[in-house]
Amino acid sequence: MTINEFNFAGKKAIVRVDFNVPLDGNGNITDDTRIRGALPTLKHILEQGGSLIIMSHMGKPKGKVNPKMSLGQIKDAVAKALGTDVKFAPDCAKAQAEAAALKPGEVLLLENLRFYPEEEGKPVGVEKGTPEYDEAKKAMKESQKEFAKTLASYADCYVMDAFGTAHRKHASTAVIADYFDQDNKMLGFLMEKEVKAVDNVLNDIRRPFVAIMGGSKVSTKIGIIENLLGKVDKLILCGGMTYTFMKAHGGEIGNSIVELDKLDVALGVEEMAKKNGVELVLAEDSVCCTGYDFGTFSVKPGAEVKTFPSNAIEAGWDGLDVGPKSQAKFAKAIEGAKTILWNGPAGCFECDDFCAGSRAVGEAVAKATAEGAFSLIGGGDSVACVHKFGLEDQVSYISTGGGALLEAIEGKVLPGVAAIKG
Ligand code: 3PG
Repeated sequence: MTINEFNFAGKKAIVRVDFNVPLDGNGNITDDTRIRGALPTLKHILEQGGSLIIMSHMGKPKGKVNPKMSLGQIKDAVAKALGTDVKFAPDCAKAQAEAAALKPGEVLLLENLRFYPEEEGKPVGVEKGTPEYDEAKKAMKESQKEFAKTLASYADCYVMDAFGTAHRKHASTAVIADYFDQDNKMLGFLMEKEVKAVDNVLNDIRRPFVAIMGGSKVSTKIGIIENLLGKVDKLILCGGMTYTFMKAHGGEIGNSIVELDKLDVALGVEEMAKKNGVELVLAEDSVCCTGYDFGTFSVKPGAEVKTFPSNAIEAGWDGLDVGPKSQAKFAKAIEGAKTILWNGPAGCFECDDFCAGSRAVGEAVAKATAEGAFSLIGGGDSVACVHKFGLEDQVSYISTGGGALLEAIEGKVLPGVAAIKG
């Protein structure tokens, strides 16, 4: 079933969205991209005369009620975005009466699903690796099914539109689908769009295909890097992982972040790139600092900022961005690309002293897009870069997924998609 074929008139739809949006200290939403992303599906159902039961998680409350992660905080913002009243069910597992009372066109938002451990299905209070854990896990799987069944009982049909959480096999993203027959479960518009964007990048490649991967650790990105080395023409690796590569060749990296136990992984990546004929592009120079405050994203009073070759950074200096030579090198590598994937900034872009590298990447991606490339941007930090530099209208697609996008690009089947498509 597809969302376009389904007739929602008079039906109750339970929709899994990803409203895990960032909040400031006062509970105000600081980036509503994910709410805006879900609107086409939610509005479509209401316009057709259906009623909506919206469910999501927020944060990682680990199976316990935590008011700081209450979805009640965003109820008014959701109502404003939808242009209609939103009722709130303060207990997502005891919302039978509220759901039953919904009339066509009405909306009910359920409290954070992760206030129940059954949502994630992980046993609580037992240590992993013990015999008790295995028993508890078995029991939890059973209660997870019951929890999913309860959620399913609220509605006539199920729509999965939480791309950001589609890599999780949770009660609301996957297990619930077992309680609807094939004609009454479907992906939402956002899921369809995201899956199509990933498909464009992985299976409908126009060449040259250039990927830009940032991030502090090569270990967390190795799966996606290996997958991309089988597909791309050029791979730009930037961000903190640069220094693991420099160190692997005996470079001096001062105080820069490094994974000393992953030097062989870095060399392996270089080897694989060579074997696959992929041009690996690494930084040549780095903008470094003697005292950076990672908490406030600022240079500490009295600290200095200076550019060094990336493999000859003096002791006491920390590489925080790519320098001018690397910026030009990256821009040149992106020039003329026809498919682009950007995940992870080039440096500590939150601070104006260290954002030039990420800006140069963003601008080069925008230029290539204007010249006909398909560009996909994903992962919270690169999306934040695109917003910071005002480039959101100059790239092809901005994903709402972080981990989910990475897993999709690694070629993994997302449980949230598999639950619907089988
Ligand atoms: C995200 O922010 O990436 C999604 O909402 C998934 O959250 P999770 O990593 O806590 O499952």
